[in-house]
Amino acid sequence: VKRVRTRHLIEAKERGEKWAMLTSYDMYTAALFDEAGIPALLIGDSAANNVYGYETTLQVSVDELVPLVAAVARSTMRTLVVADLPFGSYEAGPAQALETAVRFMKAGAHAVKLEGGRRMAAQIRALTDAGIPVMGHIGFTPQSENMLGGYRVQGRDASAAEVEADAHAVAEAGAFAVVLEMVTASVAAEITKQIAIPTVGIGAGPDTDAQVLVWQDMAGMRRGRAPRFVKRYAEVADVLQGAAKAFADDVRAGSFPTAEHSFD
Ligand code: KIV
Ligand code: NA
Repeated sequence: VKRVRTRHLIEAKERGEKWAMLTSYDMYTAALFDEAGIPALLIGDSAANNVYGYETTLQVSVDELVPLVAAVARSTMRTLVVADLPFGSYEAGPAQALETAVRFMKAGAHAVKLEGGRRMAAQIRALTDAGIPVMGHIGFTPQSENMLGGYRVQGRDASAAEVEADAHAVAEAGAFAVVLEMVTASVAAEITKQIAIPTVGIGAGPDTDAQVLVWQDMAGMRRGRAPRFVKRYAEVADVLQGAAKAFADDVRAGSFPTAEHSFD
C-alpha cells in the first residue's frame, strides 16, 4: 500500500479527477475512511466543537490536537494526514508557524493547514522551505469569525477580487492545495481555473477540484440544523443511540447477558 502524496493530488487536478477529504480525530474513523479510499484526512481544529465540546474553534490548543493527529497517523496506511494549525499557534510569524508545524509533523502528520491568504504568505513560504507541505484555507476562515462578523459567504461583489488575490498568494507561496470555505460558486470556479493547485471546497459550489466535510456532519453524528453546505449520508447518531437504548433495555429486562455471554 502506497501513501498518497501531495503530488498525487496535484496530478489528479491535471487529470480532472475530483476527490473527497473528510475530517478525522480518532483511530476508528481514520481506519474506516482510509479503507474507504479517502485520499486525505484532516485533523481539523473543528475538533474544538466535534471532540472537545468547545463553543468555537478559537479555544482548542496545539496540546489538545497533537494526540489526535498521532492517533489518525497511526491508524492509516494510505491517506495523506493533514493537521490543522489552531488559532494562536502561527499568526505571530514564520518562526512560530514553523515551531508549531514541526510538532504536528513529529506527531505523524504529512502536511499542515492554516487559515489566511495574503496575510499568511510568509508563514506558508517558511513551512514549505522547511519541507512541510501546506494546505491553505481562504474565504470564510472560522478562526477570524469575530473580524468577519460571523459566518458569512465571502466573494460576493467587490470581495471577489480579495478572495482571488488570496488564492494566488497561497499558491505562489508554495501551498499544495487550498480550502475555499463559504465562497460563492462562481468565484470558486474561477479560482479553480486560475490556479494550478487543487481547490478543496466547503460551501464553495460544485466546481472545486475536491470537497471536504466534517465527518460528524457528513454521517449524521451531529444532530440539529446543519449548515446549507452539508449533505448527510447516514444517521449515525440514531444508530448509536439506538444501540445504547437497546443495551440498557436488555439489562433492565434481564435479557442480557445470557448463557452464551457467560462463563461456566
Ligand atoms: O477544521 C476543519 O474541520 C476545517 C475543514 C472543514 C476545512 O478546517
Ligand atoms: Na479548521
